[in-house]
Amino acid sequence: MMVSVPIEKASLSIVRLVLVLLLTIFFCFLGSASTSAEEAAALFKWKASFSNKNNSLLSSWILQPNTANSSNNVSKEIVASPCSWYGVSCINGSVNSLNLRDLSIHGTLYDFPFSPLPNLEYLDMSENGLAGSIPPQIGNLSKLIYLDLSINAFSNEIPREIGKLKNLQTLHLKGNFLSGSIHEEMGQLRFLSDLDLAANFLYGRIPPELGNLDNLVEVSMDGNLISGPIPSTFGNLNKLEALLLSSNNFSGPIPPSIGNLTSLHTLNLFYNNLSGSIPRSLGNLSNLSYLDIHRNQLSGSIPKKLGNLKALEYLDLSNNLITGSIPVTLAKNLSNLLFLYLAGNNLSGPIPQEVANLTELNDMSMAENQFTGHLPQGLCQSGVLTILDVDDNMLTGPIPRGLNNCSSLFLASFRGNQFTGKLSEMFGGVYPNLDYMNLSDNNFYGELSANWGRCPRLTTLKISENNISGRIPPELRNLTWLKELKLYSNRLIGDISKELRNLTHLNILDLYSNRLTGEIPKEFG
Ligand SMILES: *[C@@H]1O[C@H](CO)[C@@H](O)[C@H](O)[C@H]1NC(C)=O
Ligand SMILES: *[C@@H]1O[C@H](CO)[C@@H](O)[C@H](O)[C@H]1NC(C)=O
Ligand SMILES: *[C@@H]1O[C@H](CO)[C@@H](O)[C@H](O)[C@H]1NC(C)=O
Ligand SMILES: *[C@@H]1O[C@H](CO)[C@@H](O)[C@H](O)[C@H]1NC(C)=O
Ligand SMILES: *[C@@H]1O[C@H](CO)[C@@H](O)[C@H](O)[C@H]1NC(C)=O
Ligand SMILES: *[C@@H]1O[C@H](CO)[C@@H](O)[C@H](O)[C@H]1NC(C)=O
Ligand SMILES: *[C@@H]1O[C@H](CO)[C@@H](O)[C@H](O)[C@H]1NC(C)=O
Ligand SMILES: *[C@@H]1O[C@H](CO)[C@@H](O)[C@H](O)[C@H]1NC(C)=O
Ligand SMILES: *[C@@H]1O[C@H](CO)[C@@H](O)[C@H](O)[C@H]1NC(C)=O
Ligand SMILES: *[C@@H]1O[C@H](CO)[C@@H](O)[C@H](O)[C@H]1NC(C)=O
Ligand SMILES: *[C@@H]1O[C@H](CO)[C@@H](O)[C@H](O)[C@H]1NC(C)=O
Ligand SMILES: *[C@@H]1O[C@H](CO)[C@@H](O)[C@H](O)[C@H]1NC(C)=O
Repeated sequence: MMVSVPIEKASLSIVRLVLVLLLTIFFCFLGSASTSAEEAAALFKWKASFSNKNNSLLSSWILQPNTANSSNNVSKEIVASPCSWYGVSCINGSVNSLNLRDLSIHGTLYDFPFSPLPNLEYLDMSENGLAGSIPPQIGNLSKLIYLDLSINAFSNEIPREIGKLKNLQTLHLKGNFLSGSIHEEMGQLRFLSDLDLAANFLYGRIPPELGNLDNLVEVSMDGNLISGPIPSTFGNLNKLEALLLSSNNFSGPIPPSIGNLTSLHTLNLFYNNLSGSIPRSLGNLSNLSYLDIHRNQLSGSIPKKLGNLKALEYLDLSNNLITGSIPVTLAKNLSNLLFLYLAGNNLSGPIPQEVANLTELNDMSMAENQFTGHLPQGLCQSGVLTILDVDDNMLTGPIPRGLNNCSSLFLASFRGNQFTGKLSEMFGGVYPNLDYMNLSDNNFYGELSANWGRCPRLTTLKISENNISGRIPPELRNLTWLKELKLYSNRLIGDISKELRNLTHLNILDLYSNRLTGEIPKEFG
């Protein structure tokens, strides 16, 4: 007896506890079931608005239990939960994430349940066929931290209400038909770290307020119609690693404050209307590996300070109005450079010998400038040079011997300079990868090397307007992939009919102004 009282008391309290627990579970269950049932109904309504009704990828999005299956004794509410639907995840029975990327959804967001999904944090609807406007109700998704609507067909303006998404960290709207300007309300997205508005039809100016978003790590607005200046307030974005503003209509100078962005590794400003000189402060971007500012109206000289950019792998300054010579420090210090494009400026002086010590350099284009002097002696000494284009300069002297066995070479173009020397000594080697060679309009002399016929991939060979003599070597007939052969205005002699017969891919042939004889095979028309 002494023991039974506590046992009775204990069992009573256990019963009470179990009852309370059961009730709690019951009410919780009812609560979440009705929440999710509401969310399911709202999502289902949106699905019903799709223009493709039979989207098999969303076949799990159903409301009614399968009544034909009576052994499946499950209540309607549970079946109506969206939490097991494809692409839907829930927390505590409420929709938290919709991952609907690339599910062939064709429709609009006009029936999308913005208000009925109060707990949505993650929304990815990229790569579908969604069209129409982005509704202002998008601002009701107050918990949203991730929004990706890219690669759809959305049009009209980005709604100002997007500024209400105070927790947003990622905003991807790239690849739509969005137009209008970027509203200053976007400057309220204090936690935004990744903003991608590329490939739309946005115009107007960038609101300076975007310079307040100091959590931004990546900004991409490539391929729009945005004009006006790049805001100097961007100098505040001290976490920025990539700034991609190419192919717009930006004008004015590159703001010197960009030099404050010491985390920057990619700066793409090409295809704009930027003017003024390249700011010296860019030399402060010691992590920069990719700098592309080609096709602008930039003038002045290349700042010596760019020699500080030791991480640089890609440098494209081509098609601007840049003058002066290439700073030697640039060639000395940028030892990681893979691509160097300076074509289409007004650069002068010699190409520094130190360029040959850039042992990683793959591509180098210096065409259409006023460079003088000899090419650097050691070019291709590390055996990785693939593209070398020095067309239309005033370069003189022989081609460096190192190029004679530069087997990495794919494209080489020396047209329109004053190079001289016996061609077969400078280019007598065999180039297994060579596709394009242009030596026209120089002062080369001597005979053509038989080795041209041993370059298995050659499709273009141009040696016009030189002083080449002798016969066309019979080995040229091995160049079965040759499409273009230009040897006009030289002093070539002999019968050509046999040599050309095998060149079945040839569609451009210029041999005039030589002393050649024989018939051009009929196949060439
Ligand atoms: C279902 O959709 C596919 C394209 O997704 C379409 O080719 C087909 O005709 C549709 N079938 C019906 C019954 O609508
Ligand atoms: C009925 O439900 C059972 C168990 O869930 C399932 O295995 C069966 O395929 C269902 N039958 C039909 C006709 O849907
Ligand atoms: C789930 O709900 C419980 C009880 O209301 C709460 O304590 C918990 O924080 C919620 N979890 C999340 C991730 O919201
Ligand atoms: C949803 O957004 C619209 C447009 O911004 C607004 O008028 C409405 O009050 C919002 N509704 C809720 C419940 O927040
Ligand atoms: C850039 O940094 C300099 C100091 O290096 C500072 O004076 C200036 O205010 C900064 N500019 C911006 C726009 O952040
Ligand atoms: C560059 O700006 C000039 C005048 O500022 C304008 O006439 C021209 O159309 C612009 N170029 C491009 C490509 O937008
Ligand atoms: C580019 O911007 C200039 C003004 O800076 C404007 O006159 C011109 O119309 C714009 N061009 C385009 C194509 O938007
Ligand atoms: C660049 O760095 C130098 C010191 O190396 C500093 O004096 C200068 O203010 C910096 N410029 C900018 C724009 O940050
Ligand atoms: C530069 O890059 C390195 C390696 O990616 C990184 O550790 C470092 O923090 C970066 N420096 C700045 C100033 O961002
Ligand atoms: C080039 O590198 C040297 C050695 O690292 C350094 O002292 C010098 O400041 C650099 N020059 C420029 C212009 O950055
Ligand atoms: C290019 O530079 C030369 C002098 O080096 C100058 O005479 C010429 O006007 C310049 N051309 C352009 C388009 O700036
Ligand atoms: C290139 O590098 C080699 C060895 O690293 C050095 O001896 C030579 O002086 C350098 N040449 C130039 C032009 O800097």
